[in-house]
Amino acid sequence: MSDKPRVLSLAQPTADSLHIGNYLGALRQWPPLQDQYEAFYGVADLHALTVDVEPAVLRKRCLASAAQLIAAGVDPTRSAVFLQSHVPEHTQLMWVLSCLTGFGQASRMTQFKDKSARHGSDAANVGLFNYPILMAADILLYNADRVPVGEDQRQHLELTRDLAQRFNARYSPTFTVPEPHIVRSVGKIMDLQDPTAKMSKTSSSPNGVVDLLDEPKLNAKKFRSAVTDSGRDIVFDEQNKPGVANLLIILAAFTGRSVEDLVEGFAGKGYGDLKVAAADAAGAEVTPFRERTLELLGEKTELEQILADGAEKARAVASRTIAKVYRKVGLLRRG
Ligand code: TYM
Repeated sequence: MSDKPRVLSLAQPTADSLHIGNYLGALRQWPPLQDQYEAFYGVADLHALTVDVEPAVLRKRCLASAAQLIAAGVDPTRSAVFLQSHVPEHTQLMWVLSCLTGFGQASRMTQFKDKSARHGSDAANVGLFNYPILMAADILLYNADRVPVGEDQRQHLELTRDLAQRFNARYSPTFTVPEPHIVRSVGKIMDLQDPTAKMSKTSSSPNGVVDLLDEPKLNAKKFRSAVTDSGRDIVFDEQNKPGVANLLIILAAFTGRSVEDLVEGFAGKGYGDLKVAAADAAGAEVTPFRERTLELLGEKTELEQILADGAEKARAVASRTIAKVYRKVGLLRRG
């Protein structure tokens, strides 16, 4: 075991592909953290059961998600790359934490609130209600110090911190209180068709979501048909020109240039130029990423072996935590 601090993050396999919001906001931050941290990166397949999904589709998405983590640069020889369901301690800890979570506090989680408000409380299942508590268990099980995620996970991180502190105060210091690692500039990538809504796997407008595994040509087309704003000048104004601002943010992220610098360079040019530049910059990074993912998916046995090894590494830590937690709350060891 290493004495480095720990980093952990998971992504849900709720679509056939991750999108550039997931990539810029989260995934791309993961590989550089592998140097200073002991890293645990995984696929939240149990979380994905909160939405109705065909079993065969879920199986495919789990492997595709794992392959995308590796294609993004997560190195399985250094990090534990695993499927959440391969480590049963996640659900064991979730139960203990759910007994420490107020019903009111869980009801205030916006994801559950939005979904039950939109579709009625029966459309949102109890799994969705428990979702943030399972996420807290994912994090606390490994005593993660840092959790690289997008802005939409901030509230869940707050709950996680709260539960860690509550457990520590009630029993004795046990859990590390984790820090979210949210990169402000890319923490919330917006939908290309509706730049006032975040890009999301469940978006109603597939043209607004750039999937990492889609044909590069299709993605370039999505950029070209991105909704922009009235006016003609390329300026960064998130309030009044959210479409242009989003394209500038995406272009800045993929080129490593600052938004100010880009705006200067686009003086006298039009929205069409910005769209083409964003499409080209995204394509240059995403196309090799896609090829690498498809290659990994062609080596299914190797990929499954990576996940088996990752689960073993993860379980070595998780089983110790759950034993400690069970003991502290007063559960007897099996004799
Ligand atoms: P998920 O699968 O929805 O998204 C994976 C990661 O992508 C980020 N993200 C975005 N970032 C920027 N702009 C966007 N439009 C955008 N959309 C998504 C998410 O914030 C996330 O970091 N609950 C988590 C999965 C999870 C998890 C965990 C994360 C389960 N257990 C433990 C961290 C630690 C989720 O649904 O992410």
